[in-house]
Amino acid sequence: MLFEPYTLRGLTLRNRLVVSPMCQYSSADGFASDWHLVHLGSRAVGGAGLVFTEASAVEARGRISPEDLGIYKDEHVEKLAQITRFIKAQGAVPGMQIAHAGRKGSTRRPWESPPGTVSPAEGGWIPVGPTTEPFAPNYPVPTALDEREIATILRAYADAARRALAAGFEIAELHFAHGYLVHEFYSPLSNTRTDRYGGSFENRIRLALEIAAAFRAVWPEDRPLFARISSTDWTPGGWDIEASVELAKRLAAAGVDLIDCSSGGNVADARIPMEPLYQVPFAERIRRDAKVPTGAVGLITTPEQCEAILQRRQADLILMAREFLRDPYFPLSAAGELDAEISWPKQYERAKPARRAVSS
Ligand SMILES: Cc1cc2nc3c(=O)[nH]c(=O)nc-3n(C[C@H](O)[C@H](O)[C@H](O)COP(=O)(O)O)c2cc1C
Repeated sequence: MLFEPYTLRGLTLRNRLVVSPMCQYSSADGFASDWHLVHLGSRAVGGAGLVFTEASAVEARGRISPEDLGIYKDEHVEKLAQITRFIKAQGAVPGMQIAHAGRKGSTRRPWESPPGTVSPAEGGWIPVGPTTEPFAPNYPVPTALDEREIATILRAYADAARRALAAGFEIAELHFAHGYLVHEFYSPLSNTRTDRYGGSFENRIRLALEIAAAFRAVWPEDRPLFARISSTDWTPGGWDIEASVELAKRLAAAGVDLIDCSSGGNVADARIPMEPLYQVPFAERIRRDAKVPTGAVGLITTPEQCEAILQRRQADLILMAREFLRDPYFPLSAAGELDAEISWPKQYERAKPARRAVSS
């Protein structure tokens, strides 16, 4: 099943293994670099069905760090087009994660010390959020978006759709998770606005739905659109799985084809019970109750786990992040372990192990 093709709208993935979006902090002014070509390209060579870029910002102040990938200039398209051409030539589908960091923007890349905020004098910026409340005491104090600025951001998403298309991406994923802008709006813990973007559930999810509609209006009918959500804030009184099921239904009605079920990121001191497969129940619940295809992600590391999640109908796709950093060729070896058929790159074929004899 893991190595069976999967079709959504007009697109077929060669298998159900997806390289989860991962920030590489290897850009200047949002431009993709040779690092991205080799990093994403290797995982396409390694047999993944779908290879997502990292979170790619729709405006410069929507980056997490100054070194994030962006899709906020027409000039970004050229290098990205080289990358998508290479990924497609390996038989994989190139996907772009489209993002806005909101109040969690203008921070240092993780390996820099000291950690924390990048000041405007050092090339950082004042980030934006639903309110002027920072994510945590060591994070920048954001400015609160007014309705006119929200309209500008909606246009930035539509422009990003146009550029991602021009760059050759075949799937886009809206990053609505991990405490970034859209999650900040839908969570009652971070959104205490009193206008039509705050207060009730309907008002808090308005930004998510408007972005999905603005993006879908540009993104072609035959191309799939995913949304990654945080299924819970892991905090009493916060966003929860019931709200996620409802949001998933509403996103599906707005043209989203698959919900990528992550969690957390909006509450600095939330206690998250991280253990293998800990987010899979969210993918299962949303798939069952919202009747929308889902992706499972989070501490999935073995071929057997991937196969079992799909066999139990808990999700339609498997996204993996760190295991793909450890082993870009995970799909090639996983197919061997599951005794499934996968075609190796011609250049590497002589390294392909013989298939095990099937016992009767
Ligand atoms: C280096 C790194 C960068 C990440 N960047 C992103 C990102 O850009 N967008 C996103 O939605 N998640 C990001 N994540 C989260 C992963 O996509 C994934 O959801 C998480 O690591 C759990 O999956 P795993 O246990 O397979 O690593 C990142 C994770 C890592 C390790």
